[in-house]
Amino acid sequence: MTQRLRKVVFPVAGLGTRFLPATKVVAKEMLPVLDRPLIQYAVDEAVDAGADTLIFVTNRYKHAIADYFDKAYELEQKLEAAGKKELLSLVQNVLPKNVRCVFVTQPEALGLGHAVLCAKPVVGNEPFGVILPDDLIWNTGASALKQMADLAAFENSGVIAVEEVPREQTNKYGIVDATPINDRAALIKLMVEKPKPEDAPSNLAVVGRYVLPGRIFSLLESTKPGAGGEIQLTDAIDALLKQERVLAYRFEGERFDCGNKLGLVKATMHFALQDPALAEATREFVAGK
Ligand code: G1P
Repeated sequence: MTQRLRKVVFPVAGLGTRFLPATKVVAKEMLPVLDRPLIQYAVDEAVDAGADTLIFVTNRYKHAIADYFDKAYELEQKLEAAGKKELLSLVQNVLPKNVRCVFVTQPEALGLGHAVLCAKPVVGNEPFGVILPDDLIWNTGASALKQMADLAAFENSGVIAVEEVPREQTNKYGIVDATPINDRAALIKLMVEKPKPEDAPSNLAVVGRYVLPGRIFSLLESTKPGAGGEIQLTDAIDALLKQERVLAYRFEGERFDCGNKLGLVKATMHFALQDPALAEATREFVAGK
């Protein structure tokens, strides 16, 4: 995988039932942490990793994501007329100029593996990234996907982000069994989707960041429904392990699971505490509780 990563897939066709009723009309990826929607953090990470083609696997109800990355003529005209230059630049620069967006529809919700497979015609046969925007990763240095893309290019292999989770939570994640190479990287021996704690080979869980070879698509095509009756990306990667090596990587950064309310609250608090304009007032508010 010495080829640089240029394309990143964002599976965003999920229903976001944990945030109903808000998600009746707002795609969960559009929920904000402070002033930016989750999808913006995900896209920034992809761009930091060197991507110039962003592929959104979406469904027929998720127009907001396409609208968000489109030009907002009326709003831009109004801000310009009012001389609000900073706001105008915020609105115009959600994406760098060299980056293009491609929208692909996932007609039926058949699982994460199926969602990624929908991107095959756009990705073709080259290494690509996958970001699940629910998993928001904060850090000060290179983004998690950039760290992974560098390792993938150097090692010429696929790379999956992992972190340890409490044993009792293995049934919420893909779990890997891996042999450590160094502090951060390990060679994956097997992967299993959402095992019960008593069946889990470890407590090393997959976080929503992947760098994968184009070869994964043919494996996804023959992947049968697995955990939850869905076509699982984890199962296709487990099959890939029989053909080539894939590394698990403990990224530098802090992950927030924004797919649930507490995770979104924690992310919001964390980002507020990092923001010089909000940190002190946030700390005072929490201390007073
Ligand atoms: C998906 C993957 C799982 C991974 C998780 C990370 O699960 O299937 O392997 O650990 O994302 O967030 P989901 O959260 O979509 O059920």
